[in-house]
Amino acid sequence: MNLIKLNAIDSTNSYLKELSAKNEVPDCTIVMADYQTKGRGQMGTGWLSEEGKNLIFSFFKKIDCLHSDEQFYISMATSLAIFKTLKQFHIPQLKIKWPNDILSANQKICGILIETHITSNKIKAAIIGVGLNVNQMDFPGVINASSLKQITGIIYNRDEILNRITSQIETYVNLIYEGKFEELKSEYEQHLFRKEKPSTFKSRDGELFMGYIKGITNKGLLNVMLEDNEVKEFDLKEIKLLY
Ligand code: BTN
Repeated sequence: MNLIKLNAIDSTNSYLKELSAKNEVPDCTIVMADYQTKGRGQMGTGWLSEEGKNLIFSFFKKIDCLHSDEQFYISMATSLAIFKTLKQFHIPQLKIKWPNDILSANQKICGILIETHITSNKIKAAIIGVGLNVNQMDFPGVINASSLKQITGIIYNRDEILNRITSQIETYVNLIYEGKFEELKSEYEQHLFRKEKPSTFKSRDGELFMGYIKGITNKGLLNVMLEDNEVKEFDLKEIKLLY
């Protein structure tokens, strides 16, 4: 394992992206920072994290057995790896909120941003960015956010959690190499937040509608059963779960 520890950086994902564009980056390189000045979230959002309190890292993982439209298996593997690690730390009521937020009860404790290197429609490697709220106690202005310490009262060692998560990611990525796609999908769906529960969603044009999450497609779209019992597929831009 090749670990690069930084005090501050714009974004650990951006750092690894630039590094891998210029140099050969060894498989399983980890870039970890105490603080990000331009932390990035999904769909162009930002990621804020109090200095020195949380786990902020990006993991460079060679994954060269997937077609570009199979990228969601990397999301499943990562979500499950973090889920399993947090379970080992006895964090209660864990769920995976599609596509890849980790919740305890209905509080978000971890966000994941995966960026892939693709050539000729084949994935070559992934930069797996993880922001896990560990010891931070206040989240001013953010709703539904929490941390491990806020939930259990325990102060955690960030390095220990990092080691466990990266080793779990390697285990789950091995399932991808073994072609165990159905196993991954079924384990992911088993932990899906609000699965089979009546839920309210907001569409892209701001309309609210009711539906039941049924699962995901192989490409990672969300299957929702609407009021007329029809099951429709949605991508991240088309739907927002209100909770
Ligand atoms: C999200 O929930 O929107 C995803 C958040 C991902 C944040 C992590 S922190 C480490 C890595 N570097 C970034 O700039 N983003 C990811």
